[in-house]
Amino acid sequence: AYVIAQPCVDIKDKACLDECPVDCIYEGPRKMYIQPDECVDCGACEPVCPVEAVFYEDDLPEAFIEYRIADREVFDGIGLPGGSRDHDPLAADHAVVEAV
Ligand code: F3S
Ligand code: F3S
Repeated sequence: AYVIAQPCVDIKDKACLDECPVDCIYEGPRKMYIQPDECVDCGACEPVCPVEAVFYEDDLPEAFIEYRIADREVFDGIGLPGGSRDHDPLAADHAVVEAV
């Protein structure tokens, strides 16, 4: 799956949202999150982010490595919402984001 890393925090440009064919990018208070089990690895979100926050999970720079876990764990207890368009924003960010 693709992952949204630290540069998105407090920016949330949302250009990525319009590109995603499966609508699997969800909003948190300070960052957007890709639901890793809904992402089909199309990669369309990566080049449009103006702050280069999006990476394929295996290509994350070392400094952002914990975001792979963050984008997965933030959906614990939420599961597979099936699309962000009609989904309320997540109530809280992952601890990794809160610590930024
Ligand atoms: Fe964030 Fe970039 Fe999308 S700033 S909301 S990952 S376009
Ligand atoms: Fe969507 Fe990006 Fe995955 S456009 S399908 S989140 S690679």
